Amino acid sequence: MKKVFSLKLFIALLCLFYSSIAHAESLETSKADKSLFETKCSYCHEIERPLSKRKNKDGWTATVKRMQSKNPSHISDAEAESIIAYLSYERGEEAPVNRIKDPSNLSELEKKHVPVIQIGSGDVEKKIVTITVKVGEVPHPMEATHYIKYIELFIDGKSAGKVDLKPGDKPEASFNVSGAAGKRVTAREECNLHGLWEGEAR
Ligand code: HEC
Ligand SMILES: [Fe+2]
Repeated sequence: MKKVFSLKLFIALLCLFYSSIAHAESLETSKADKSLFETKCSYCHEIERPLSKRKNKDGWTATVKRMQSKNPSHISDAEAESIIAYLSYERGEEAPVNRIKDPSNLSELEKKHVPVIQIGSGDVEKKIVTITVKVGEVPHPMEATHYIKYIELFIDGKSAGKVDLKPGDKPEASFNVSGAAGKRVTAREECNLHGLWEGEAR
C-alpha cells in the first residue's frame, strides 16, 4: 500500500516538474517575442504607437507588413511573424461578451445562446464534479452555416477546460473539474454568426 502511494507521489512530482519546464519555456518565448517587438518597433517611433492600438490578427498582419516594407532590412519575415503573433495575443481585439440583459424576459437570441450550466453530484470524496454546459435553454443549431465553435468553462474567471465543436455535434460539453465548490462557475460559447456569450451557474 505504502509503495503504491509513493509511486503515485513520484508520478505527480514528475508531472509537476515537466509542466513547470513547459511553462518556463512558454514564458521564455513570449519574453523573447516581447523584446523583439520592443527593439524592432521602437526604431522609427515610440513603442506607444502600436501599444495604444488593439487589432485582430489580420489587422496586425497588415500593419506589421506595412512597417516592414518601410525598411525591409530592419525586420525579417520570421521576425515579422513573431511580432504579429505577440501583438495579436497581447493587443488583440477583445470581442464583446453577450450576457442576459433581463432574466425575467429572455430574448430569442438569449434563449439560443446563453450557456446553461448543470453541476452534477460527482465524486464527493475526490471533490470532482461533472459540469455539463448546454447551449442554450433552446438548443442552438449545429449546421454547416450556423453552429457553436466551442464551449469553455471558467471557475472564478479561470479557464477550467475548453471543448471545440463542429457542425453535427451536440451543442453541449461536459467537464470533470475539482475545486469548484463555493466558487463562481461560468461558461462561454462562441457562435459563428452571433458571437461570444456567457452564462453563470445559478
Ligand atoms: C522604418 C521605420 C518604422 C519601423 C521600423 C516601424 N514603424 Fe510603425 N510607423 C512608421 C511610420 C513612418 C508611421 C506613420 C505613417 C504610417 O502610418 O504609415 C508608422 C505608424 C505606425 C502605426 C500607426 C498607424 C497604424 O497602422 O495603426 C502603428 C500601429 C505602427 N507604426 C506600428 C509599428 C510596429 C508594430 C512596428 C514593428 C513591427 C513598427 N511600427 C515599426 C515607421 C516605422
Ligand atoms: Fe447563433
